[in-house]
Amino acid sequence: MAFSLQLHQIFLSHTRFCSQPKSITNPLISLKLPSIHPLAVAQNAAISNIDSAGVAAIDGSAEEVLLPPQLRRELMPKHVAVIMDGNRRWAKMRGLPVALGYEAGIRAVRNIIELCGNWGIRVLTLFAFSSDNWLRPKVEVDILMSLFERALNDELENFSRAGIQISIIGDSINYSGQHDVVQACQTIAQKVKDGIIETKDINSFLIEQELQTNCIDFPCPDLLIRTSGELRLSNFLLWQLAYAELFFSHSHWPDFGEAELMEALSSFQQRQRRYGRQSS
Ligand code: IPE
Ligand code: MG
Repeated sequence: MAFSLQLHQIFLSHTRFCSQPKSITNPLISLKLPSIHPLAVAQNAAISNIDSAGVAAIDGSAEEVLLPPQLRRELMPKHVAVIMDGNRRWAKMRGLPVALGYEAGIRAVRNIIELCGNWGIRVLTLFAFSSDNWLRPKVEVDILMSLFERALNDELENFSRAGIQISIIGDSINYSGQHDVVQACQTIAQKVKDGIIETKDINSFLIEQELQTNCIDFPCPDLLIRTSGELRLSNFLLWQLAYAELFFSHSHWPDFGEAELMEALSSFQQRQRRYGRQSS
């Protein structure tokens, strides 16, 4: 499961579906919530501040004031993707139950949403649960799912009040980067079979159109952050990360706050992005 939050956008409705769910029989599906879907995009109209209750205030001028002096607005990534790893380790280090690690992780999510909104990042994609995480003990998966559902329930109200749009992407409860590419291939193969396109028409642009992220304004993240010291993509966005800059933090996700985000953004702003071209 991944949640992608699109910031500083104007939109008409706070929830949108990029594709309809194929099944409505899954017990995790709730008509009121997007938590049944693997990838949810929230769009936020010029969000600039979220108060302690998590309520966002819309104020176009605050962004200028709040941007830390170390960061340059014109070099800010438009889309930041995050693999929020290390919640269990955070809890275990403190002798706490795993569930409290996940709860702390959700508090970190709220903080990062606020910071990204304040600092002018347009899209934030948070990878919370991969299809591979189903291999974890059922009790843990159940804890996670109920936490996600509760957090989303709580936040939907705030998002709505703040003018945040949740866009739902995907048609099952898993998000897997490999599966995303496979389903794009299947759709394209069908179009060839139906005579809509020819094999020679298949190119990167066409494939990108069929990926589940195609309804996000900036579907390819500029920056990927993974916490907790692991140096892997773990089947997150794969195609979309082709030219992303990578930043690995040793902090466990619940400890990833303002200083850590600033470090990641500052590192990003010092990179020279070449997209395969030679350095200048
Ligand atoms: C990441 O934290 C969150 C999910 C996969 C849902 P982990 O649960 O992987 O925490 P660690 O990596 O075991 O500490
Ligand atoms: Mg992990």
